[in-house]
Amino acid sequence: MRLRSLLFVPGDSDRKFEKAAQSGADVLICDLEDAVAPSQKSAARQRVSQWIDRAEDVAPSLFVRVNALDTGFTGDDLAAVVRPGLAGIMVPKANGAHDLDAISSLIDPLEKTAGMEANVIRIVVVATETPAAMFALGSYAPPHPRLAALTWGAEDLGAAIGITSNKESDGSWTFPFQVARAQCLFASANAGVAPIDTLYSDFRDSAGLEVDCRAARRDGFTGRIAIHPNQVETINRCFSPSAEEIAEARKIVRAFADNPDAGTLGIDGKMYDIPHLKAAQKTLAAAGASS
Ligand code: COA
Ligand code: MG
Repeated sequence: MRLRSLLFVPGDSDRKFEKAAQSGADVLICDLEDAVAPSQKSAARQRVSQWIDRAEDVAPSLFVRVNALDTGFTGDDLAAVVRPGLAGIMVPKANGAHDLDAISSLIDPLEKTAGMEANVIRIVVVATETPAAMFALGSYAPPHPRLAALTWGAEDLGAAIGITSNKESDGSWTFPFQVARAQCLFASANAGVAPIDTLYSDFRDSAGLEVDCRAARRDGFTGRIAIHPNQVETINRCFSPSAEEIAEARKIVRAFADNPDAGTLGIDGKMYDIPHLKAAQKTLAAAGASS
C-alpha cells in the first residue's frame, strides 16, 4: 500500500468524498474525529460505512480516523467500519504504543467476524498530539504488526501546552513543534515504519506547500497529509523520486552488483559505501522501479 499522499475527507460530506475519490491521493482518511461536529458523529459513521462498501470502485485506499480512546466513541466507530474495503485506521491523540495495542484489540474480533485475515487492517498513529505522547515515542518499537506509519500533529499538542502560535513570522515551525516533527522522524525510523509529515494548512499556497514538501522529503519523510484535493498533485510529485534520482540510484545499485565483494566504491569521482547502497535501494523501492 502506497502512503505518499493521505487526503482527509470529513465524514459528513458525500460531496467531498466524491471529489476526494477523483483526487489522485494514495489514501483517503475518512474522518470521524475533529472534522465532524459531536451532533453529526452518528450520521457520519453511517455515511463512512457506506463509503467503505464502495471501496472497490474507488482508486485510493480507504482509512478511517476514529475518535480517541478517551471519548467513548472508538468502539462504535470501529464496529461501523471494520470490514472488507477498509484498508486502515488512523489513531488520533495516542499516548503511546499501549493505545495502539488497545485499538488493535478492539479491531481483532471485528476483523475475524468480517472474515478478514488477522492484522490486514493497518494503523497509522498520530504520535505527538498529547504531552504524554512526546515521552512515549520510543514505545512504537518493536512495531505492532498493524503499524504502517507514524505521523505528527501540531494543533492538539499546541492547545495542550497553551501556545499562542505554532509558527514563526516566516512561517516556519516554532521550536516545540520542530522537536515534535523531528521526534516523529526518529520514532518512525526506530520502529521501521513510514514517517508521514503533518498537514500544510494554507491550502491555497501551492508554492509554499512545494517548498515545505521538498524540505520534508529531504529530512526523511516519505509522505504527507493533505486537507484539500488541490494539495495532492504537489505532494505526490514531491514524494516521488525524480528521473535523475532514479538514474543515480540505478547506477549505484548496479556498481555494487558488479563488485559484490566491495564495501566501498568510487563512482564518477565520489565515494559510495553501504549506506549509499541502502539509500539507493530505498529510492528504487519508492519509485517502484527495478535496478
Ligand atoms: N476532500 C474532498 N473535497 C474537498 C476537500 C477535501 N478535503 N476540501 C475541499 N473540497 C472540495 C470542496 O467541497 C469544493 O467542492 P465544490 O466546489 O464541489 O463544493 C472544492 O473542493 C473547493 O473547495 P474550496 O472552496 O477550495 O474549500 P472549502 O472552503 O469548501 O473547504 C475546508 C475548506 C478546509 C473546509 C476543506 O478543504 C476540508 O474540509 N478539508 C478537510 C478538513 C479535515 O478533514 N480536517 C481534519 C483533519 S485536520
Ligand atoms: Mg486534531
